[in-house]
Amino acid sequence: MKKILFAALAFAPLLALSAQAQKAVKPAAPSAFAPGTTARDLAPLMAKPVAPFEWAYPVGPTGLPRPDPAATFTAQGADPNLKLTMRQVGDAFGPPDWFPKDHAPLPQIVGHGRSPHVPACTLCHLPNGNGHPESASISGLTAPYITQQMHAFRDGERTNIRAPAMIEMALDISEKELREAAAYYAHIPRAQQKWLRVVETSRAPASHVGAGGARFFDKGAQTVPVAPDMIYEVAESEEVELRNAHVGFVDYVPAGSLEKGRIVAMGNRGQMRSCGSCHGDDYRGHADAPRIAGRSAYYLIRQLADMRSGVRKGAALGKMKEIIGKLSDADIINVAAYMASRSP
Ligand code: HEC
Ligand code: HEC
Repeated sequence: MKKILFAALAFAPLLALSAQAQKAVKPAAPSAFAPGTTARDLAPLMAKPVAPFEWAYPVGPTGLPRPDPAATFTAQGADPNLKLTMRQVGDAFGPPDWFPKDHAPLPQIVGHGRSPHVPACTLCHLPNGNGHPESASISGLTAPYITQQMHAFRDGERTNIRAPAMIEMALDISEKELREAAAYYAHIPRAQQKWLRVVETSRAPASHVGAGGARFFDKGAQTVPVAPDMIYEVAESEEVELRNAHVGFVDYVPAGSLEKGRIVAMGNRGQMRSCGSCHGDDYRGHADAPRIAGRSAYYLIRQLADMRSGVRKGAALGKMKEIIGKLSDADIINVAAYMASRSP
C-alpha cells in the first residue's frame, strides 16, 4: 500500500475553501477567530512547537506522490465484500467504517460531519475514538470534558500546530451536534479503548515519518538507539493508512522511563500532588480531570509541553498549573511513557 493516503488529510481544508460558507451557530463566548475561518488560514497563526519536543508534533513530509484515487482496498479483518477506493478512504465527509458491528450507530456529525467546515469526527478519531498520535484519543473521555475542549479550541485556548482542523470545526459546530458527538465518544466501551503497546528498550526498530505525519517501520531489520529524551510512536502496520480501526500503535520508550515516570506520577518524591489525586488512582479520569491512562505518549507530551509554554490555556487548566511548573523535560517524557503504558 502506498504511504501517501494521509496526504489527503492535509488537503481537507481545501474543501472548506471551495464550498459555500454556511451560516454558523454563533458561539456566545468571545472567540479569538472569526467563524468561517479555515484551517488553512489558521495554520500560520499557530505556535511553533518548543524544543525539545518538536517530534511529538508530527507533520507529514511534503512532496509525496498522490495516491491513485481509484485503487481499491479492503482493511484486514473487515468484510471482504467491502471494497473502498482511496478517494473514499480519504473522504472527509464519509470516511471508512470498516467494522460497523463494533459500535453503536454513528450520529450523522460523527460519521459524516457537515460540509464545509465540520469533517466527520471519524476521519481523524476513527469510529472507536482512539485516533492516531497526531490527533488524539477521545474514547472514554466524559461528555462535559469533550464539550469543554471543543469550546477551548473555539476560544483560542489551544493553538498548537495540530489544532487548526479542530479550531475550524469548533467555530462552526452547533451545540446539538457537539452533544451528539460527545455522547457517542463518551460511551465507547473500555475494552475498545486499548490502542497502545509500550515497549521499554534501549534499541527500537528503525522507523520514519510518513504520510500524514504518522511513523512507520522501515523495511528491514535495522534498529536505532532510543535516547533518553525521545519516544518512537510507530503504527503497528501500514493499515492505519486505510483508517483500519483494529490497528493501533506501539511506543518504544527509553530504558528506565517507566519506573521514573511512576515516581513522577506519585508526586515526584513529595514535590507535588500525585497525578492520581485528580485523574483517579487508575488515571482513568475523575471529575473534571480526564483519562490519561493508555493514551498516546505523543499526545500527552504535546499537552504537557503546551500547558507549560502557555500554548494551551484557559480557566479549566487551573488545577494543572501548579503541577506543570514543576515538571522538567525529563519528567514529561517519563510520565508520558508511564501513562501510555497504563491500562485504559
Ligand atoms: C482533521 C482531523 C480531525 C477531525 C476531523 C476531528 N478532530 Fe478532534 N482532534 C484533532 C487533533 C489533531 C487533535 C489534537 C490537537 C492537539 O494535539 O492538541 C484533536 C483533539 C480533539 C479533542 C481534545 C481531546 C482532549 O483530550 O482534550 C477533542 C475533544 C476532539 N478532538 C473532538 C473531536 C470531535 C467531537 C470531532 C468531530 C466533530 C473531531 N474532534 C474531529 C483532529 C481532528
Ligand atoms: C490538582 C489536580 C490535578 C493534578 C494533581 C494533575 N492534573 Fe492533569 N489535569 C487536571 C485537570 C482539571 C485537567 C483538565 C484541564 C482542562 O480541562 O483543560 C488536566 C489535564 C491534564 C492533561 C491533558 C489531557 C487531555 O485530555 O488533553 C494531561 C496530559 C495531564 N493533565 C497530565 C497530568 C499529569 C501527568 C499529572 C501528574 C504529574 C497531572 N496531570 C496532575 C487536574 C490535575
